[in-house]
Amino acid sequence: MDKTSRIFLAGHRGLVGSAILRRLQADGFANVVVRSRAELDLTDAPNVDAFFKSERPSHVFMAAARVGGIVANNSFGADFLRVNLQIQTNVIDAAHRFGAQKLLFLGSSCIYPKFAAQPIREDSLLTGPLEPTNESYAIAKIAGIAMCQAYRKQFGFDAISLMPTNLYGPNDNFDLTSSHVLPALMRKMHEAKLAGAPSVAVWGSGTPRREFLHVDDMADACLFLMNGYSSGDIVNVGVGEDIPIADLAHLIAEIVGYKGELAFDASKPDGTPRKLLDVSRLTAAGWTARTPLRDGIAKTYRWYLDHVAAGDARGVAAQ
Ligand SMILES: NC(=O)c1ccc[n+]([C@@H]2O[C@H](COP(=O)([O-])OP(=O)(O)OC[C@H]3O[C@@H](n4cnc5c(N)ncnc54)[C@H](OP(=O)(O)O)[C@@H]3O)[C@@H](O)[C@H]2O)c1
Repeated sequence: MDKTSRIFLAGHRGLVGSAILRRLQADGFANVVVRSRAELDLTDAPNVDAFFKSERPSHVFMAAARVGGIVANNSFGADFLRVNLQIQTNVIDAAHRFGAQKLLFLGSSCIYPKFAAQPIREDSLLTGPLEPTNESYAIAKIAGIAMCQAYRKQFGFDAISLMPTNLYGPNDNFDLTSSHVLPALMRKMHEAKLAGAPSVAVWGSGTPRREFLHVDDMADACLFLMNGYSSGDIVNVGVGEDIPIADLAHLIAEIVGYKGELAFDASKPDGTPRKLLDVSRLTAAGWTARTPLRDGIAKTYRWYLDHVAAGDARGVAAQ
């Protein structure tokens, strides 16, 4: 990929896509093509074909997907399965048929078995049952990986697949019905602080451990691997360390300045007990994450404050 390459960035308004876009713009890539969902619904195969036929991108970042937290995943499994299968099938196939040189597909750490040995190595894929609460999403993502590998094998198409850990940062989704744990806790504590609420409910026991990567680091890894990695072997992208949800909640409370009680509700589902990615494949390739969790959360909270004030934080009504 060079500064004049024609790059299609799918999902440029999302958490990951907007971080990749910021990075491509900062690095001087001058030929980036983007389409909002309203302009090009990627579930619509004929329109995706027409787009690739006329735009002919040489490089494709696939950051468009139906994404959500535990509640959304658990409640809308049919949508998560169908929409993700459609988007990735349409885009991967059209990219290949209309001559793209390379495509980067994003999976997720939830593709791995619920009780995979920790830290999770890439070769634990398909070695055991999945976490039931996000099975539909995970199966769609596994199909996307298989599609990249099959297109590489059958057609020599240079499609690579990255498995990011939990991501957070600017442009995250703060809608409490569909958000991930970190933005949800940030919003709840911010609003509890403003309301002077004595306690904030935190879903689950607080004991599961999770890993969090700042999305600007994720964008950095995407460019690094788009430029320097070509293999059907999937690559984990993470920081290599995790934190109990209870500790994360206390850290967010400290950064937000919320002084009330954190009430852990063990009647709500915990999900997978631990999800730490083994990042040795990525480290061996020469990449490591740079943003410490505390700094990343503090930066994200500043972004949240600015954008709540401006009325354009996703999932938060203008205030
Ligand atoms: N967030 C995480 O923690 C995380 C962790 C691991 C992996 N990932 C992966 O990273 C990728 C991006 O996730 P994200 O967190 O950035 O998601 P996100 O913030 O929800 O963004 C998803 C993007 O996809 C677009 N999109 C959805 N359906 C579409 C459709 N039918 N046609 C066109 N565009 C569509 C959305 O467009 P609109 O803005 O118009 O809705 C949005 O821009 C996904 O593949 C996800 O699996 C994310």
